[in-house]
Amino acid sequence: MENNVIILAGGQGKRMKTNMPKALCNVIGEPMLEWVLTACENAELDDICVVKGYEGQQIEDYLAARKSKAKICTVMQEERLGTGHAVMQAADFLKAHAEGNTLILCGDAPFIDAETIKGALELHTEKDCGVTVVTSRVENPTGYGRIIRTENGISGIVEHKDCTPMQLAITEINSGCYWFKTADLLEVLFDIKPENAQGEYYLTDCIELLIAKGKKADAFISANPHVALGANDRRGLLALNDIARYEIIGKWLDEGIEFCCTDGVSIGNNVTIGHGTKIHSGVILRGNTTIGENCNIGNNCIIENTTVGNGVNLNNVQAYESVIEDDVKIGPYVQLRPNSHIKKGAKIGDFVEIKNSTIGEYTAVAHLTYIGDSDVGSNVNFGCGVVTVNYNGDKKFRTVIEDNAFIGCNTNLVAPVRVGKGAYTAAGSTITTDIPDNALAIERGRETIKEGYAEKKLKARTEKFEAIHGKSEEK
Ligand code: UD1
Ligand code: CA
Repeated sequence: MENNVIILAGGQGKRMKTNMPKALCNVIGEPMLEWVLTACENAELDDICVVKGYEGQQIEDYLAARKSKAKICTVMQEERLGTGHAVMQAADFLKAHAEGNTLILCGDAPFIDAETIKGALELHTEKDCGVTVVTSRVENPTGYGRIIRTENGISGIVEHKDCTPMQLAITEINSGCYWFKTADLLEVLFDIKPENAQGEYYLTDCIELLIAKGKKADAFISANPHVALGANDRRGLLALNDIARYEIIGKWLDEGIEFCCTDGVSIGNNVTIGHGTKIHSGVILRGNTTIGENCNIGNNCIIENTTVGNGVNLNNVQAYESVIEDDVKIGPYVQLRPNSHIKKGAKIGDFVEIKNSTIGEYTAVAHLTYIGDSDVGSNVNFGCGVVTVNYNGDKKFRTVIEDNAFIGCNTNLVAPVRVGKGAYTAAGSTITTDIPDNALAIERGRETIKEGYAEKKLKARTEKFEAIHGKSEEK
């Protein structure tokens, strides 16, 4: 039996005041559509059709760039005439999968989860329903479709705008997520008429149409209190962000992770954090980031797609697509650009930028240094203000610094260049040729002293000053 998915993502974020499809608006760094796709993939549903509409190309581009487990296709809804009309656009997809069940989801309700999807499917198959609606009991049902229960299932869904005063009091609402028997859905889909307060083709009308054909309709109450939540405007989107943020922080609190203060803290869905780690305020952990045990992630760190080992101490660090091994200390004010690998026990101090480079074990880069396209060995010491000159305006080259080297303050290492094992560079040198092991390279003018030179200069300067401002005693 095939189970497939249609995700409705035709809507515009008009009230968001954006030119993006609403489903591409972000909740903690990921488009709402991404949340929905992930829930489908977690529920092992692998055939998905996305209905795009407003700025559909953006959805197309997003999906093309995404690494999807599932097979995903799209169909275009040229005009937004309602959720029923949106599903009609996917008729060919439904016909191609007519054997099994189809899950319908809203691309702008990000908190749908795999347990709900699976639980609803179980009820749907057990009770042999034509349609099973995922519902939620909420305090404020305003705006949602109300579920009309019967002794043996449901008899329909009434949209808020079409409700009688009695129906408005119903607090079980339609989440916008449904399992249909695909063949049953196809049987009634094109019978939907836009005869309602909004003049739209309501997908929810399928329920009454199916019941009229003798099919069963039931509702699955999700255990997830946020399952139906969507956003219509920026306030709503911010509320979703806060819900997601606190849900994830709550999960890590339960795992024993210490949060000193949650202000500005945002942790992505795919992040993992090891035991004994402390997270301070303003920390943003995104993408496929792994933080080891007993780390201290200090204020305002942004860590994206990065693996952090155990016992690492970070303070005001930004790290992207990088690896930080055990017992490394970095910060404050350090950026690790993509493909940086900081090995065990290394220390990276303030105002350092590292890009596409390896920093060996126990190496120290204490202050104000740029290391790009470099392979640095272990126990190397960088003085203050070292620059690897990796770019000649046309091409980039690598710098190699071998174990135990000592790079003097303010050294420029003009790549391609190699500093041998244990070699020294003198402070202020611009190094353009390879340095053999254990040698010292010094490249700078010899200092000369001109006795008394400054005295004459000072006298001239004082006379000029006094001609303008008068002698200092007269003031
Ligand atoms: C719908 C349900 C309502 C439910 C609510 C849950 C209907 C008639 N009503 O109402 O019972 O409580 O969802 O959020 O289905 N879309 C398209 N094309 C369209 C119209 C909508 O792709 O022509 C997409 C939207 O982008 C959105 C989803 O379908 O992702 C839901 O549409 P929306 O207009 O938000 O439906 P509601 O009126 O909220
Ligand atoms: Ca909605």
